[in-house]
Amino acid sequence: MNTLLVTGGAGFIGANFVRMVLDEHKDIKVVNLDVLTYAGNLENLDGYLDRDNHVFVKGDICDEVLVKKLLEDHDVDCIVNFAAESHVDRSITGPKIFIDTNVTGTLTLLQAARDKQVTRFLQVSTDEVYGSLGKEGMFTETTNLSPNSPYSASKASADHLVAAFGHTFGLPYNITRCSNNYGAYQFPEKLIPLMINNALHDKALPVYGDGMNVRDWLFVYDHCTAIWKVLTEAKAGQVYNIGGCNEKPNLEVVKLILAHLNKPESLIQYVKDRPGHDQRYAIDASKLMTELHWAPSVTFEQGIARTIDWYLAHSDWLNHIVSGDYQNYYDSMYQGR
Ligand code: NAD
Ligand code: DAU
Repeated sequence: MNTLLVTGGAGFIGANFVRMVLDEHKDIKVVNLDVLTYAGNLENLDGYLDRDNHVFVKGDICDEVLVKKLLEDHDVDCIVNFAAESHVDRSITGPKIFIDTNVTGTLTLLQAARDKQVTRFLQVSTDEVYGSLGKEGMFTETTNLSPNSPYSASKASADHLVAAFGHTFGLPYNITRCSNNYGAYQFPEKLIPLMINNALHDKALPVYGDGMNVRDWLFVYDHCTAIWKVLTEAKAGQVYNIGGCNEKPNLEVVKLILAHLNKPESLIQYVKDRPGHDQRYAIDASKLMTELHWAPSVTFEQGIARTIDWYLAHSDWLNHIVSGDYQNYYDSMYQGR
């Protein structure tokens, strides 16, 4: 691989991935295509924008002409597609943009990738495409797709398109399906940064339902190393689950954050549940661990402590992000709950 197109590289996971590649794989040129929605922020790439081997392009993955031109101009040979609308709650209040970006945008990239004959297309997917689990069991790569939210339905559609391009046109692809990420630069609409931010400002912490929904938490840097392994070592056509073996009920995560920040549990406020709220996700990542010898680098306790400390040390970043579009969205979400 010489030139890697990363889409959505100004968002949470994409920016962490671009930083990792630029730090640890200096021989790779990264072309970073991001339209900078509310979730994309150039501050996430501070210190990396002027690197010689990093080209940032503000643009839309749905723009066929732009995508084709970028692949040609930079002679791109691999693509990692992070670009997406990623927040489940927003997909409930406004699903259409999820279809535009997550489905049509992925299709646009696939067509250009096929025509350019790239050597690998890696689709960053999610465990949510598998649906919801009861108390027992884990998602494996062969679990049927059974998405429940407009967000996960759009991601599942994209997965099917990627596999169809492999089957029909011989596009060399991989799909990774990851559990909930946490770490630096996550937009504070997602559970962990939202709760940290609210606790820091002594605001109520809105826990959906009874707080007993379970998520399987993965430190974002470990997600990035797993994607790199799949991109560089996996056979084409393979799907890999990525997870950290850290299942936790939401309430436990929220209480842990409050304890770390020395804030009272009285800040917790139980609010109306998310419609169609998936009960439990749990990832079986043994295929990735045995075939590609990947392992997470931190425990949840280490990762969450590091994450909280990062937000404490980056209050400027947090304040800036929260002062934008997000504040209006947040206020409208919780009115009447
Ligand atoms: P994010 O919302 O933080 O970032 C998404 C990025 O994509 C933003 O920078 C945004 O500007 C960009 N983008 C959106 N629409 C675009 C378009 N049309 N053209 C170009 N850029 C566009 O998301 P994230 O949490 O970093 O997630 C990245 C990917 O990982 C997504 O595909 C998501 O489905 C998947 N994923 C996320 C998690 C998680 O816990 N966050 C877990 C599993 C999978
Ligand atoms: O599982 C992977 C997915 O994880 C990714 O594909 C998505 O892009 C990502 O957003 C995330 O989806 P979730 O819906 O699991 O994440 P979120 O942070 O929105 O919510 C985590 C859990 O916390 C969920 O059970 C809902 C609950 N929650 C969330 C918020 C924002 C609350 O109780 N209160 C809240 O205010």
